[in-house]
Amino acid sequence: MADQIHRREFPEGFKWGVATSAYQIEGAWDEDGKGQSIWDTYAHTPGKIRDGSTGDIANDHYHRYKEDVALMKEMGANAYRFSICWPRIFPEGTGTPNPKGLDFYNRLVGELLAAGIEPFPTLYHWDLPQALQDKGGWQNRDTPVAFAHYAGYVAEQLSDQVRHFFTTNEIQSFADGGHRGVDTHVAGGELHLEAAPGLRLPPGELNQVRHHAVLGHGLAVHAIHAMGKPGTQCGPAEVISIAVPLIESDEHIKAAEVATRELNAPFLTVILEGRYTDAYLEKAGKDAPRFTPEDLATISEPVDFVGINVYKPNIYVLASDTTPGYRAIPYSASHPKMFSDWHMLGPEALYWGPKMVQSLWGAPAIYITENGCAAADELAADGNVYDTDRIMFLRNSLTQLQRATAEGVPVKGYFLWSMMDNFEWMNGYGDRFGIVYVDFDTQQRIPKMSASFFREVSMHNAVA
Ligand code: BG6
Repeated sequence: MADQIHRREFPEGFKWGVATSAYQIEGAWDEDGKGQSIWDTYAHTPGKIRDGSTGDIANDHYHRYKEDVALMKEMGANAYRFSICWPRIFPEGTGTPNPKGLDFYNRLVGELLAAGIEPFPTLYHWDLPQALQDKGGWQNRDTPVAFAHYAGYVAEQLSDQVRHFFTTNEIQSFADGGHRGVDTHVAGGELHLEAAPGLRLPPGELNQVRHHAVLGHGLAVHAIHAMGKPGTQCGPAEVISIAVPLIESDEHIKAAEVATRELNAPFLTVILEGRYTDAYLEKAGKDAPRFTPEDLATISEPVDFVGINVYKPNIYVLASDTTPGYRAIPYSASHPKMFSDWHMLGPEALYWGPKMVQSLWGAPAIYITENGCAAADELAADGNVYDTDRIMFLRNSLTQLQRATAEGVPVKGYFLWSMMDNFEWMNGYGDRFGIVYVDFDTQQRIPKMSASFFREVSMHNAVA
């Protein structure tokens, strides 16, 4: 019976990874010479985090990283996406580096390599040094320059052991979520995050923040290639807004491509094309970002791979003869959702996301840098967590991803968000995204049933 099951296999050498970010798990917020980040400031401001919590201790990963790496190994992960906390390395954002900050990441990388897990660090997962925010943060054109300097320094220091770096995580989320406010709309649809520094800027200034952020990415790509050992590779980890054809026929697929390109205009589209779309500039009008042709060349500095965070389709579309060339179809009132309010179910995003990156921009290699879901995880009487909803979500997502790889879309790896429950930004510890349950009173880690599922998939390099 068992050998009659048709396993959907992934390409040889496919990376099966789990993901986290520094502020969400490290804790040790003021240890070993670390500077403050905008998330320290934001979480310490009353009223900003839903449950009043902070990331001061979080998962105490800074002190428990060995245990966490051992867990990853047990779960069958062969890659790990984590982020480096900029103010641990440069407490003031620029200037003299703090050697103890770098030491931590050296120890972590050593532990990972010894466990046979490949490190994939992200250089910016939203924890900007507060000292730079005090000078205007991403509104200031000096911030992208400082970011590239920090990125080049880390690449120089770590690239004898680390081959892949992600530059920025979700520019769309930190630019819009941090500078626009949660009750407004972004290019790709609704914004589910209100983020540090918690500003509400007018449209022109927001567009400038977005521009500085993509510029920071491009400058960092240049710096990493220049300062890293030969062969050091890098690319963005961006949340892609995905338009999915409601009906899969040629004309609707074409319409979905047009829509996807527009939805990502100030983010992935400009990064991968080196131009803002006409529609984006026209719509922005007098609020369009100020930029030079040199900026566009910098922003589109060639990357070695494209990382995309994929949780759901942003919109469904059908073809249309009238401008803009597609018709957006709203989600039905009874469309199934996962645990989070924003999380509409749509596993086909895992097919169409990478597929669109390939058809629109011909990326040399693609990583799914995040995919996963929150669930109402509870410990059962026997001490286990039976997260059947998460397993259903993951199985459906991976089945769709395998469809893409089987068609030759160059997806090289998948990073599940998240390795363990953690500080979920403005939701505090209320939303659990992990495949490992964390008791935040005792710091006990308990692998959920989904961790067994992940291990099974990774071991077979296939989803059944
Ligand atoms: C992504 C982020 O937006 O989604 C992660 O890169 C985050 O850091 C994850 O934790 C889950 O989203 P949220 O906003 O529901 O916590």
